[in-house]
Amino acid sequence: MKAITIEEYGGPEVLQRRDIALPQPGPDEVLVRVAYAGINFMDVHTRQGKYKASKTYPVRLPCTLGMEGAGVVVRVGDRVSDVEVGSRVAWCISWGAYAEYACVPARLLARLPERISLDTAAAAMFQGCTAHYLVNDVARLRSGDTCLIHAASGSIGQILIQLCRRKGVKIFATAGSEAKCEVARKLGADHSMLYDEGGFAQSVRRLTSGNGVDVVFDSVGLATLRDSFRATRSRGLVINYGNVSGSLHDLDPIELGEAGSLFLTRPRLADHMTDAQTVQRRADDIFAAILDHQLIVPIAGRYTLEDVHMAHEKLETRQQVGKCVVKVDQSVA
Ligand SMILES: NC(=O)c1ccc[n+]([C@@H]2O[C@H](COP(=O)([O-])OP(=O)(O)OC[C@H]3O[C@@H](n4cnc5c(N)ncnc54)[C@H](OP(=O)(O)O)[C@@H]3O)[C@@H](O)[C@H]2O)c1
Repeated sequence: MKAITIEEYGGPEVLQRRDIALPQPGPDEVLVRVAYAGINFMDVHTRQGKYKASKTYPVRLPCTLGMEGAGVVVRVGDRVSDVEVGSRVAWCISWGAYAEYACVPARLLARLPERISLDTAAAAMFQGCTAHYLVNDVARLRSGDTCLIHAASGSIGQILIQLCRRKGVKIFATAGSEAKCEVARKLGADHSMLYDEGGFAQSVRRLTSGNGVDVVFDSVGLATLRDSFRATRSRGLVINYGNVSGSLHDLDPIELGEAGSLFLTRPRLADHMTDAQTVQRRADDIFAAILDHQLIVPIAGRYTLEDVHMAHEKLETRQQVGKCVVKVDQSVA
């Protein structure tokens, strides 16, 4: 089967299109014929080697890239009882989706409602489940609360805005250009602004009568995290869920004290997708919101296994706004 693999870490040039053996599902896995794979910044991190020592995400070389996809089950392992051959499914945080077939642990599969198309499922599963746990289980936001969402025109940023909006939360947003700020405003951010080299913190304080916000969603990391502390109210929560600009290696906990006894967390999706029921529940909520037109997850670009390296280049150079997918099976709609 055709697959995009990496044998060494590096830039988009290390992506290789290979013919490799069909993977065999283990007893707790299913084999899926992949229709669409999601393209994610996490693929970029994987390619760069950021998970080479990770225990949460034990990605090792050689590796077939892609940790999100949607397709049809073609074989089930001996111990799998709740998924059948022919089921339409989507998954995330299991690697191997940039390929014609992928073996996926059954506990990570979500069955799809009939009206959810395979491309939408591949676009919504990872970021949808991430935004779902961040808003509901980490931030626990309620109507009237305030939050700051960085990289608000990014794939997760866009969904965070919409989920927070539905809860009646007041939203401040940052982005890297005026056009991206406009995307955030259109989705429901009350105020959107440029990062302004950390100047966002002062703007947010001014707009919250000097208090700062209850919660910051920070996926940017190095370039924003210290200023995020300055934008947070006393005893507020900073959620550092990504590090697209790099990691802060010299953080002293006393800084959190000085910033107003803040809470800082670095959560991971894997710890919030621990069993099949949780995976299905999060996916069901996201798909229901899409079908109710409460949540928009547009597909910003479509690639193939031949040109997926171009999507990686756009992600790394910040030219991409929103989510892209790889159409793997050319015979599906
Ligand atoms: N912890 C978790 O559970 C979890 C789960 C899923 C993903 N993540 C992580 O969350 C992060 C965001 O994921 P995503 O899917 O939303 O990504 P995305 O769609 O590619 O968005 C990333 C955004 O980051 C901004 N950015 C700021 N500095 C950047 C830089 N130096 N290089 C590239 N982009 C930069 C860009 O917007 P501007 O140009 O407007 O700044 C871009 O839109 C990634 O690090 C991903 O690994 C974490």
